[in-house]
Amino acid sequence: MTILSTTDRSPILAGGMLTRIGTTPLIRLNLVAEGLQAGVDVYAKAEWMNPSGSVKDRPAAWILSRALEDGELADGRVLLDSTSGNMGIAYATFGASLGVRVHIVIPSNASPERLAILRALGADLTLTDPTEGSDGARAVAAQMAADDPARFHYADQYSHPANWQAHFHTTGPEILEQTAGRLTDFVAGLGTTGTLTGAGRYLRQAVPGVRVVGVQPATPMHGLEGLKHLATSPVPPIFDPALLTAASNTLPCGAIARVTNSNTGKSVIVKINDTGGFRPPLIIDLSQAAYETIAAPNSGSVPVTIEVQALTP
Ligand SMILES: Cc1ncc(COP(=O)(O)O)c(C=O)c1O
Repeated sequence: MTILSTTDRSPILAGGMLTRIGTTPLIRLNLVAEGLQAGVDVYAKAEWMNPSGSVKDRPAAWILSRALEDGELADGRVLLDSTSGNMGIAYATFGASLGVRVHIVIPSNASPERLAILRALGADLTLTDPTEGSDGARAVAAQMAADDPARFHYADQYSHPANWQAHFHTTGPEILEQTAGRLTDFVAGLGTTGTLTGAGRYLRQAVPGVRVVGVQPATPMHGLEGLKHLATSPVPPIFDPALLTAASNTLPCGAIARVTNSNTGKSVIVKINDTGGFRPPLIIDLSQAAYETIAAPNSGSVPVTIEVQALTP
């Protein structure tokens, strides 16, 4: 029995809450789509409906499953990884259910709620220097694994192929099915880049001409948990930049920006009018502007760079 099928090495985890991962609804955002050309809909995928509450349930289940299949967690060996929060909560939730010990390396400025949840789920924690962020936590986890390889199975979600494969085999096909293939743009935030790499790779194969847009924080000190400013961070080994047909940046709330289509030179001035934080409207504001400037229906698979130039600090 498998929880997630369609791969040669499908996860062996079965039963209980693990069967509830994925198949999350697509929710139509009517207000966000207001003013767009007729027939254009914008949807958000309700990943909070996964058992531990985030998109990270998908890669966590696949990584855990792969480790169990490969015998990496035999004899009480501990699953070790760094995370800014949600991946840790996913590992700890499934680890508790499967009797797998989980050790999470996490910056000490993670919210008290996250730390409390991780502890309540029985995870062991190593708290790292908050000024070093998730990159610092990753370095500490790698060192812990190198120091004690017999004790730890170091998953390293940034380089683990099961991270993007989970999205290739679940998130991507779900989106294709839920939109009946009527998909022009796929937008994902970039953290480990597993979501964008996996679902983006699947959707580019399945939907000719689909645009794949990665969204990252505009500045290194952004405070958006789980997302990365790639220009100043180590690029995750699983990231495949060739998948991007467009790149976009999030900008601070209230910022004014010019969004330019590199192919046509057309641009539009946008104001980021959300209240800030990592929430879909902040991202969709930009993609909406992009729609208005680049939604030439026949842009096909020609790569387009949407250049976002901040006009306010
Ligand atoms: C809620 C949420 N969304 C998106 C991401 C980034 O996803 P990915 O790591 O697949 O790039 C994260 C990463 O932790 C997250 O917690």
